[in-house]
Amino acid sequence: MQKFIIEGGKSLRGELPLQGSKNSSLPIMAATLLSCGESTLHSCPQLTDVYAAARILNCVGCKCSFSGNTAVIDSAVIEKTEISEQLMREMRSSIIFMGAMLGRAGECVVSVPGGCELGPRPIDMHLAALGKMGVDIHESGGRIICRIASGRAKGAKISLAFPSVGATENIILCAVTADGETVINNAAREPEICDLCGFLRKCGAEIKGDGESRIVIKGKKQLHGCEYKIMSDRIVAATYLSMVAAAKGEIILTNACVPETEPFLSVLEQTGCSIYMSDNRIYLRSGSRLKAVRERIRTMPHPGFPTDAQAVLMAALAAADGTSIFEENIFDCRYRHADALIKMGADIQVLGKVAVVKGREKLHGANVQATDLRGGAAMVIAALSAEGASEITRICHIDRGYEKMEYAVRLLGGEMRRV
Ligand code: EPZ
Repeated sequence: MQKFIIEGGKSLRGELPLQGSKNSSLPIMAATLLSCGESTLHSCPQLTDVYAAARILNCVGCKCSFSGNTAVIDSAVIEKTEISEQLMREMRSSIIFMGAMLGRAGECVVSVPGGCELGPRPIDMHLAALGKMGVDIHESGGRIICRIASGRAKGAKISLAFPSVGATENIILCAVTADGETVINNAAREPEICDLCGFLRKCGAEIKGDGESRIVIKGKKQLHGCEYKIMSDRIVAATYLSMVAAAKGEIILTNACVPETEPFLSVLEQTGCSIYMSDNRIYLRSGSRLKAVRERIRTMPHPGFPTDAQAVLMAALAAADGTSIFEENIFDCRYRHADALIKMGADIQVLGKVAVVKGREKLHGANVQATDLRGGAAMVIAALSAEGASEITRICHIDRGYEKMEYAVRLLGGEMRRV
């Protein structure tokens, strides 16, 4: 089992090109199933979750190859419509292959996604929506068997009880080849939804309204492959900005998606850091102790503050001057990183969905275990800003969403190695 060894206390300085978005890459890779041909994806991040998605595509008969950050996926031939339980369990978000497989083949067998570090991950909205599109669904022994009697889904009007990202993606993936028009009300507005729709439009799909709460999709019989550049990762941007804010120094992020990162930046600038943005660059300088954020930091669906940035900002505020309050409104247990930060000297009280973070003068190094993807990144941030050495185990969580984090940190002058 690999681990990170970090020597904290050094300021960071440098320029970092942002990786492609994990949460765009995964649905777009699923969407290649619909193209019945070859697609080339640029800026595809080298992540374990991306390779898990490639294994799913290969297992059903597609041909995936990678060269650096370019993926070539040929989905001309689909040999089967069942995805093994083992492959489904490798990646929680593999449930989006359900909508894509139904859109391609009119049937699929997948597994109920296990709960994960963030708590139970129900898919009731996914299943209810697909049911309205003519999919017969029954569960048996943890497997979900889906079939469309006519072989082709039918367009439907769907209102989501909550703007679920995954449910919105599954509906879109099934609707683009359905018979008729599908309308999604209360759709998720995350930028990754727009990126998925941008890819699908290049494949010939007819989609309007993505990025807003009402999306209209006119089903097409046939889509084709295309060449597409995946958007950059706004959560990875939030991570490295929080890292330099906490450790002090300055960073220029290039290949950044500035508007999409605004909901995070508008909170980060309240800590007193200097932040400047241009079309695809974000510059941050952090010289003195951060200020606590006065207003409550509420995680909300986009364009609210992103839940995926909650842990990394908490790590930065753990040594701020004053008290900050978080309210986690998206996932049931997304404060599992708090214990590790407390072990490093943070003063954090979790009360249900609220976490009260009383800033301490300094954190100190400790040996901790990554609990989940963003919680693990938070521990790296805390360790880099702390005094002394830290060890972080279970870094496989971090590798799911961050390309070689230790290289990026060393590029910025930090002391971090993988052993
Ligand atoms: C996506 O997860 C992201 N993952 C998550 O990023 C992100 O935190 C989340 O959206 C919210 O922005 C990917 O894109 C691969 P949801 P998803 O469906 O689709 C409940 C990361 O760190 N819900 O919007 O699973 C659900 O339990 C990951 O990169 C139902 O109750 O999120 C959760 O509480 C973590 N029933 C809330 O809605 C359903 O049918 C939001 O879930 C579906 C969801």
